[in-house]
Amino acid sequence: HLWTVILAGGVGSRFWPVSTPARPKQLLPLASEQPLIRDTVDRIVPLVPADRLRILTGGQLSGALLSVLPELGGEHLLLEPRAAGTGPVLAWAAAELERLDPDAVMVSLHADHVIHPPEAFRALIARAAELAVGHRRLFTIGAPPTRAETGYGYIRLGAPLDGLAGDDHPEPGNAVAEFVEKPDRETAEEYLASGRFLWNTGLFVWRCADMLDQLQAHAPEFRELVPMLRRGESEEFFRLAPTISIDEALLERSDRSGVVRATFAWDDVGAWDAVSRTRPADERGNVLLGDAHAVECDNTVLYADEGPVVGFGVENLVVVRTGGVTFVAHRDRSPDLKRMLQQLPDHL
Ligand code: GDD
Ligand code: MG
Repeated sequence: HLWTVILAGGVGSRFWPVSTPARPKQLLPLASEQPLIRDTVDRIVPLVPADRLRILTGGQLSGALLSVLPELGGEHLLLEPRAAGTGPVLAWAAAELERLDPDAVMVSLHADHVIHPPEAFRALIARAAELAVGHRRLFTIGAPPTRAETGYGYIRLGAPLDGLAGDDHPEPGNAVAEFVEKPDRETAEEYLASGRFLWNTGLFVWRCADMLDQLQAHAPEFRELVPMLRRGESEEFFRLAPTISIDEALLERSDRSGVVRATFAWDDVGAWDAVSRTRPADERGNVLLGDAHAVECDNTVLYADEGPVVGFGVENLVVVRTGGVTFVAHRDRSPDLKRMLQQLPDHL
């Protein structure tokens, strides 16, 4: 009963000027030579075949997505009438899948995550599905933190769950004591040191029916909306639904959350400075993407997709040349790109 949904509605401004509304992060080759969405589909289909995969996005991206996923067609897209955040779109997807298969178990992925190795990922997803069905809980994959990241949510581990009958798998799953979204630096340092927190990867596994029941019971904004979805009134639903993340709408409120610990490396590459975590750097820490060359440079990120870019004797820069735009930044400032864009003239 496994089904995959891939969240791919993001506008991805943090990789500007390469990422644009028409080509957001999920369409960029940040983990390998192919776009992240291509990696995401290839990683899951050996476990959940493509006929049980749905991509959640808005109409403006459908052509670009299908062109990098030529084996898929319009029937694989769930096109939302409005970008209302992950809460409404996942509720809608759950209702659509429940209609196709009352026992459907949804594996919810992000289109833009970097994950290695794929075998460990699939084994853990399969385990989370067993636990979700066995315990009737809403499972999140939690990744052991490796730095005091402030761009992620954190999960405080609760007690280990009781074993399922006849089950001796080494991952029993834990209850969730608390979700904390994007803490400040100091809090993130504490969480890292305590060893009691995992990163919220935003990867979820749950029975669609359980998810909808929990949403109806614990999210007041959705009490009237869930029955509407189950009646197939999705247009009306999107007209009325609040803009809210699934974390806030449901996971922070549900009393039936669960978490399993990731056995794979996981990253949500947030900005240009972070690409060195996912693409190999040279011996002086330079990451060279496309036709890029660094001579006596240190810790630079150079990106070139229309003619060469050459750095000489510089350090800690990001230089990007694409689509007639040249972007030069201090590497440490690249996470603030959203703020920079707000100060630029509109024609950019
Ligand atoms: N279809 C659709 N519609 N997709 C959406 C929408 C929407 O309205 N809003 C967001 N998404 C997609 C994005 O494209 C992305 O793949 C995913 O949902 C998560 O949204 P982000 O906006 O990137 O969330 P975040 O990264 O700030 O935080 C979430 O993910 C982190 C892990 O990557 C939270 O769940 C954090 O707690 C978590 O650590
Ligand atoms: Mg993200």
